[in-house]
Amino acid sequence: MPFTIAIDGPAASGKGTIARALAQHFGFAHLDTGLLYRAVGAKGGDPVAAARGLAPGDLARDDLRSAAAGQAASRVAAIPEVRAALVDFQRRFAGGEPGAVLDGRDIGTVICPEARLKLYVTASDQIRARRRALELGADEAEMLRELRERDARDAARDVAPMRPAEDALLLDTSEMTIDEAVARAIDAARRAGA
Ligand code: CDP
Ligand code: CDP
Repeated sequence: MPFTIAIDGPAASGKGTIARALAQHFGFAHLDTGLLYRAVGAKGGDPVAAARGLAPGDLARDDLRSAAAGQAASRVAAIPEVRAALVDFQRRFAGGEPGAVLDGRDIGTVICPEARLKLYVTASDQIRARRRALELGADEAEMLRELRERDARDAARDVAPMRPAEDALLLDTSEMTIDEAVARAIDAARRAGA
């Protein structure tokens, strides 16, 4: 049985950083599922058709990390048919041997409810805005507005809203360095049998 690790949490909480480090540590594959929604949003046109026809090249665009791409992603991510079109790919990825780490919003609740370890990564709004502003070279107040708007939309949507799975371990990284957060996650994965 492959070892699946599900990581969810709000924007810029540190999920991707932790997911990448876990995958590298345990020799697992990593899928940033947010990139799928960002690619669908960036393609333009009919989002359902874009999701159904998503190709590897769509994920390689260099503008997918921007705040505008994040906003477009969160709009298309509320469309049930868009989410449905992306489920099989994510589940196949999660089933790869010897293991996989997926990070997003609904991994522990919808995509991989049987994951061996579920983490829900958070940090205060201000700290997340500061980190994302540093990363993108953007204005902190503007990032705070952007993250809050996206989080509210992601948490309020009817289909696969952002929320911790009941059996998720909460990891608040507000006061942690990246190394501390990663060490906690590796420790949790070891205890779960990785
Ligand atoms: O994947 P997600 O949007 O949740 O966040 P990320 O891209 O992993 O992290 C957002 C930014 O915060 C990156 O620039 C990280 O290097 C930084 N970060 C940090 O400063 N301290 C942490 N404990 C975790 C992430
Ligand atoms: O890195 P950050 O947390 O800012 O965003 P992301 O993980 O790249 O996700 C971008 C957007 O895609 C989110 O705001 C969600 O609306 C959507 N998303 C989702 O609905 N479900 C997922 N599993 C992953 C992302």
